[in-house]
Amino acid sequence: MTARIISGLEIAAEIRSELKKRVARLQAAGKTPFLGVVLVGDDPGSLSYVKSKEKGAIEIGITENTIRLPGDTPESKVIEIVEELNRNPQVDGILVQTPLPGHIDTEKVLYYISPEKDVDGFHPVNLGKLLRGQPCFLPCTPHGIQQMLVRCGYDPAGKHVVICGRSNLVGKPLAAILLQKAKGANATVTVVHTGTSHIANFTRQADILVAAMGSPLCITADMVKEGAVVIDVGVNRVEDKSRERGYRLVGDVDFDAVKEKAAAITPVPGGVGPMTVTMLLQNTIESAERRTGIL
Ligand code: GUN
Repeated sequence: MTARIISGLEIAAEIRSELKKRVARLQAAGKTPFLGVVLVGDDPGSLSYVKSKEKGAIEIGITENTIRLPGDTPESKVIEIVEELNRNPQVDGILVQTPLPGHIDTEKVLYYISPEKDVDGFHPVNLGKLLRGQPCFLPCTPHGIQQMLVRCGYDPAGKHVVICGRSNLVGKPLAAILLQKAKGANATVTVVHTGTSHIANFTRQADILVAAMGSPLCITADMVKEGAVVIDVGVNRVEDKSRERGYRLVGDVDFDAVKEKAAAITPVPGGVGPMTVTMLLQNTIESAERRTGIL
């Protein structure tokens, strides 16, 4: 079997055209959605993520402003800026790009973001609501993965989803989303991690396998069940002297081998990445709709 390639770019484009209509409706009501981004330091991954968020926002008519701060900015200054964004009535969504420099307590900063403007869905209030099955901003990467599955006809309901990785960014919130008794969820979820013995015993049982552990090409064909749907969240830079920039991006899945066994698989790049940005834009629009009383 050669797998169907699930294009995150195509699904993201489909959702973005739906979002443009929602922006037009807001603009007709006198409101342009506004996303405030805080970027501290010059981590290359963060710079590239923020660039794609800026580009995506502009394309669909969201106003975006990135506040760029030097890497040695004190924690108190970052919190002050977050509080200004909380108070600014023009701002619908706030995002503090992570990772933050080591001298800043990330959990503390995220706690200061108003839950009503927390379009990343990282605030403990939103995560608590997610666990309890209440409406809230969903974290963007896990929400994007759910949308990819549903829109491609791989509804997780009744399926065994095995998630490799227990990060706060992906693994834990994705498990919380997919185990809800709700549309596009209702799955049996297993999370494996660095403390799991014999990971392959679990991954081989997966109808849907999500690789989100940040280890290049770690999921090999022998770890995948014939006909599984494989979602690769990994974005790893590996040295490649044949490329002008000296590296190439690879996922957590050994794509070339696994695609011969899976029913469907996401590529890297062009898979989960564009979905993350799209769900961030969707959350920002949803916030603007709520704040103007349209939703
Ligand atoms: N760093 C990597 N991904 C993300 C994300 O989705 N949001 C934020 N704030 N930081 C990130």
